[in-house]
Amino acid sequence: MTDTHRRRFLIGLAASGPLLLPAPLLRAAGHFVLTPPQSAGPFYPDELPLDRDNDLTVVNDGEQAKGVICNVYGRILDRSGSPVPRARVEIWQCDANGRYHHQGDPNNAIQDPNFQGFGTTTTDANGRYRFRTIKPVPYPGRTPHIHFMVKGEAFEDLTTQLYIAGHPQNSKDTLYRNVGSPELRQLVEADFVAPAPALQSWRQNGTLW
Ligand SMILES: [Fe+2]
Repeated sequence: MTDTHRRRFLIGLAASGPLLLPAPLLRAAGHFVLTPPQSAGPFYPDELPLDRDNDLTVVNDGEQAKGVICNVYGRILDRSGSPVPRARVEIWQCDANGRYHHQGDPNNAIQDPNFQGFGTTTTDANGRYRFRTIKPVPYPGRTPHIHFMVKGEAFEDLTTQLYIAGHPQNSKDTLYRNVGSPELRQLVEADFVAPAPALQSWRQNGTLW
C-alpha cells in the first residue's frame, strides 16, 4: 500500500458562506491539517433512500421538508492541498423534529416524511461538493450536527461530523469535546450564516458553484 492509500483527507466545510477554514490552521509541519475523524454514530441509514441526491429538502417531487434550509458546501483536499475529484461525499442527519430515518432511533418524535435524511454527491474537478439540506437541530443527548462520510479509490474512508460554530450545546457534547483542541474543533464547525452576495448571485443564475 502506498502512502497515497493511507492518506486521510481534509474537508473544507462551509454552510451558506465562504470557505471557513482559518488560515493559521491550514498548515502544520509542511502539510495541511487533516479534518479530525468522528464516530459515524448508530444512525447511518439502515435502508438507503431511493432518492439520495444532494438535495435533502425534498423527497422525489414532494413538499419541502421542515426546518431552516441551508447550503452546505466545501472542498475535499489531500494533505498537500490538492483537490480530490470524484470523491463520494455522503451526509446524513436527523430531521427538524430530531428524528433519524432509522428504525433504531428511540426518539418518539414524528418523522418528517419530506426530509430525505441522507444524501450523496461526487466532487467535481476542483474537489468541490455541495448539499442543500436543513440546518441541523439537537436531539436527545447530542448537540446539532451533520454526519459526513468521504470515500474514494485512493484513500481510506473519512467519517466525521459538522457542528454549528458557537452553538450553546457544543460544550456539553461528548463527541464535540473529543475532537480535541479548540483549533481542531474549528475544522469541524461552520457558521451557518446568511449567504454571501456572491453565492446569492450563483443561486439566482442557477449555477451550483
Ligand atoms: Fe447523529
